[in-house]
Amino acid sequence: MIDIHHHLIYGVDDGSRDLETSVQMVEMAAADGITHIVCTPHAVERYPYQPEVNAERLATLRERVGNKVKLGLGCDFHLSFENIDDALAHPHKYTLNGLNYLLVEFPDTMISPRIADMFYEMMVVGIRPIITHPERNLTLQRKPERLNEWLEQGCLVQVTANSLTGRFGKRAQEMGMQLIEQRRVHFLATDAHDLKSRPPVLSEARKIVAEKFGAETAERLCVTNPLAAFEGRPITEAPIPDWDQPANTEPERPGLLARLFGRR
Ligand SMILES: [Fe+2]
Repeated sequence: MIDIHHHLIYGVDDGSRDLETSVQMVEMAAADGITHIVCTPHAVERYPYQPEVNAERLATLRERVGNKVKLGLGCDFHLSFENIDDALAHPHKYTLNGLNYLLVEFPDTMISPRIADMFYEMMVVGIRPIITHPERNLTLQRKPERLNEWLEQGCLVQVTANSLTGRFGKRAQEMGMQLIEQRRVHFLATDAHDLKSRPPVLSEARKIVAEKFGAETAERLCVTNPLAAFEGRPITEAPIPDWDQPANTEPERPGLLARLFGRR
């Protein structure tokens, strides 16, 4: 499995505290069947993004863990105006492995009505936003339909693995499952912060998805799509599984940007 959201860089945010914790987190992830991790420190007022420090610590970590897990670098990018301006000026500074996908997180309290314009501007400079854990966002829990417009633009969606196991409460769990059922989810990721309360474990959620929606969907959310994002390739698979679609139904026609970015 491939984990595209993981706070593995130590000492830069509220994720891993130190090198030893990070080494153990990699071991735990490997034991769970995770082969690739994108380290994604926060970029937010409280935890400013520090590309040089991140790169240095990633190198140290790679030396310690060897080939156990393939490590990459990205960012858990909070959607503030300052951040967006900087990302537009430096399109690959925050993206997963410096390629074309960007994890974006909404503030809990307010989502700007201009956000669709901002996503559009990002896509124009080659950044494809991946909306992280909408099922845990209080505003989107109340109005999940707000996701529709952004999905139509070509944004993708990542659900936190442990939302599906119930760790973030009933509401997040139900909404996470609903979004998968409605074919609005492209990735599961751990959003791991530590070894205990938010551990780097994907297999439990994968099993839940496989039981409810089939092994193929689970594979797409935990392996195929996240590997494509890790490598900067288009998400070429149809995100529409067919468990409740009549066989002869035409898939929805995606928007222009979705087509430009290769989503079928
Ligand atoms: Fe995160």
